[in-house]
Amino acid sequence: MNKSVGFIGWRGMVGAVLLQRLQAENDLAGVTTRFFSTSQVGEPGPVIDGVQAPLADARDVQALAEHDILVTCQGGDYTKDVHPRLRAAGWNGYWIDAASTLRMEDRSVIVLDPVNRSLIDEALEKGLKDFIGGNCTVSLMLLAIHGLIDQGWVEWISTMTYQSASGAGAAQMKELVVQMAQIGQAAGVAAADLRQPVLEVEQQVTELLRSADLATDKFGAPLAASLIPWIDRAMDNGQTREEWKGGVETNKILGRATPLPVDGQCVRVGAMRCHSQGLTLKLKQDIPLDEVEAALRAANEWVHWVPNTKEDTVRALTPAAVSGRLDIAIGRVRKMALGPEYVTAFTVGDQLLWGAAEPVRRMLNILLGRG
Ligand code: HSE
Repeated sequence: MNKSVGFIGWRGMVGAVLLQRLQAENDLAGVTTRFFSTSQVGEPGPVIDGVQAPLADARDVQALAEHDILVTCQGGDYTKDVHPRLRAAGWNGYWIDAASTLRMEDRSVIVLDPVNRSLIDEALEKGLKDFIGGNCTVSLMLLAIHGLIDQGWVEWISTMTYQSASGAGAAQMKELVVQMAQIGQAAGVAAADLRQPVLEVEQQVTELLRSADLATDKFGAPLAASLIPWIDRAMDNGQTREEWKGGVETNKILGRATPLPVDGQCVRVGAMRCHSQGLTLKLKQDIPLDEVEAALRAANEWVHWVPNTKEDTVRALTPAAVSGRLDIAIGRVRKMALGPEYVTAFTVGDQLLWGAAEPVRRMLNILLGRG
């Protein structure tokens, strides 16, 4: 049967990437679509199959409720406002959401189908209707290493993250580039002059970083030529909320009865749209490295194995190399000096693709009977 799908928040960064992917994969063929807006009701929507319809009102519960499936990338405040009203009005359709608001609800499933397809199928059989994309860092980490987790080898994981500006939002991404431009302007000419002492160039940069002239409205601190070891708000136990999500969301996605301990430090760095993570994995026993490699590589078709050489690492295991791709690069894999059960790895994934839009796109396809 032809399903009808409403899209909300398709113009923002994650929504725009989702729409690009849907169109690239021709996912909207044979689907009745309607595009909603919170601010531009009545204006022309995107061109789908050569047709451009006016935008419907994203706060109009009755209009929303006409659809079998709603897909939202509008953000948490929208979800908080509209989802309860829709359900209270008796709407029994499928809600697919990129925001974190509903992730930990009992009636929600965090979707990452290459890792938890069986959980998704069980939830569909049980009649659950809320399917939520996971935190980007968690989804990217799990796609990279679920091969080891699935073997039952992993006792705990420490994740040290290097998260891109895109995870903070579109305006923050722009602020990072503005900061780079300001630094270039302040010290670029001096830096290009080989005769200029480098410490004088550094001094100019540091002065700018500490001055009120640097654009920091969005991040609240310099990110270019620096980093920010804090993401999201504080939890009571000293973790940030991003660090807390690492543990709870991982375990919810995996459907673990006994929790797998996951913790670390989440750090914002000056990458554009790829999150990187340095992992320490404590295994339950000494597994030979070739078996570790084989399990990682076999986990899913997106894992891109990078041999632990300088040449391969700088070529393929960087945000610059992975940006805009569906590859989940993993490399620098080796046993650590801490002992034979300790494995380290470095992984890089696109925060907007597998980190946000792709699990949502694939969930839509599952509901459309194509996944
Ligand atoms: N919270 C993530 C970040 C992005 O700030 O990078 C969304 O999962």
